[in-house]
Amino acid sequence: MIHLVLDRNSATPLTRQVYGAIREQILAGALRAGSRLPSSRELAGQLGVSRNVVMEAFEMLYSEGFTTARHGSGTYVASGASYPAAARAPEINAQTVSMGYDSLRGVINFKPGTPDLREFPLRPWLQSVKAAYLHPVEDALGYGQPEGRIELRRAISDYVAHQRGLLCHPDQIIITAGTTQAIGIACHLLLGERRDAVLEDPITRDIQLIIRSQGGIIHPVAVDDQGLVVDELPQDIAPAFVYVTPSHQFPLGGTLPIQRRISLLEYARQTGTFLIEDDYDSEFRFDGPPLASLHGLAPERVLYIGTFSKTLTPALRTGYLILPESLVGEGRGRKWHCDLHNETPTQLALAHFIANGGYSRHLARMKRLYARKRRVLERELRECFGGRVKIIGSATGLHLAARFEGIRFGPELLIEIEKAGVRVYPAETHAIRPGLLDDTLLLGYGNLGEEQIIRGVRLLRGKIGKTG
Ligand SMILES: Cc1ncc(COP(=O)(O)O)c(C=O)c1O
Repeated sequence: MIHLVLDRNSATPLTRQVYGAIREQILAGALRAGSRLPSSRELAGQLGVSRNVVMEAFEMLYSEGFTTARHGSGTYVASGASYPAAARAPEINAQTVSMGYDSLRGVINFKPGTPDLREFPLRPWLQSVKAAYLHPVEDALGYGQPEGRIELRRAISDYVAHQRGLLCHPDQIIITAGTTQAIGIACHLLLGERRDAVLEDPITRDIQLIIRSQGGIIHPVAVDDQGLVVDELPQDIAPAFVYVTPSHQFPLGGTLPIQRRISLLEYARQTGTFLIEDDYDSEFRFDGPPLASLHGLAPERVLYIGTFSKTLTPALRTGYLILPESLVGEGRGRKWHCDLHNETPTQLALAHFIANGGYSRHLARMKRLYARKRRVLERELRECFGGRVKIIGSATGLHLAARFEGIRFGPELLIEIEKAGVRVYPAETHAIRPGLLDDTLLLGYGNLGEEQIIRGVRLLRGKIGKTG
């Protein structure tokens, strides 16, 4: 089995994408000399493309000497074709990454992962910003340290100890430009001799792009309604890391039970691999208190990532990476290399906001608000679709995943739905292996009012009712 990700919106033809992806894996040494490629029929089926696309790509690889075709027995990787220095990272440009919050005038936008922007606690926040600027000027306005302000790192270390059962020294924390930068730094630290990265499938598409762009070779592992299916972790490789969202799998919403956490840690110990724990929205767990972090069980094996993007606003671009002690020095070096450090006034303001209780008050208020919105969405889905809809995952966060029996959310249907005034997001966008999540939508309720949620689901019913 080989794993390729095709971008159907790209200007690059599919044949060229298949060829390019296999070529890269051969150059990188991920596909070893003598290993057999799947048949063109098999690969075409896996990718959901016509067989001609794959046959043409195979022909190009063969004619450049990357493969040998043994008559009747399949296509094999040729020897002498591995040259890791020449393996190119995938191109990332404004078309391939999801940028910003699209403003869709008049359209009810169920974009997942955006908090309620109108509820940003502006007044207390501005007081904290003012307090930040009242620091001695040399301290607040000069160059800082790559790991970030000690005031904020102390506040975070207290916060994660109380809320997530995670004990760390403030010196293990690096303040980052959100999860996005933290992942880049973690990849830099962990991808060396080992290039294999095990990811939940599906997982945020941008995360896949970042890991691939840093030279990671992605190995997808299925998720079910309890998160990562640990029994399917690959046994034939020793990966650089396993990337997990154990508190609230993104996008399908499962919460990893303790038995699976222990198996995952055992796997990490046996293979000598690290775990990256992406804890992006577990503050908003509606059917109980936030769960303990994976990090708490094995601090020396886990790189923990937290973010203020969901609890406050993504516009602050502030998150944090908690590293095992052995990686702290190099981690700070990488952060320095990226952008010297996060900007200081926001760090000081955030430290002040947390220390004077503004942050926990805001969290408590938002948790009640999101719980209410979620209830409205669930009720409306049940009323409009009855047994045809199945809500999956745990009651946490800013979005839910819902499976619609017998419906395939292809591009045409999505356009039709948007023309009716509502934008919904297919889970399939985040699939590493395509074709399994065509019937599943992600409905973000964080930034919608209750009226909009109700109207949006009714509009959706109008559209699916007609086509379903
Ligand atoms: C799984 C996951 N983690 C983290 C984030 C947050 O990223 P950032 O902190 O860079 O805003 C997202 C964004 O939606 C996400 O999907």
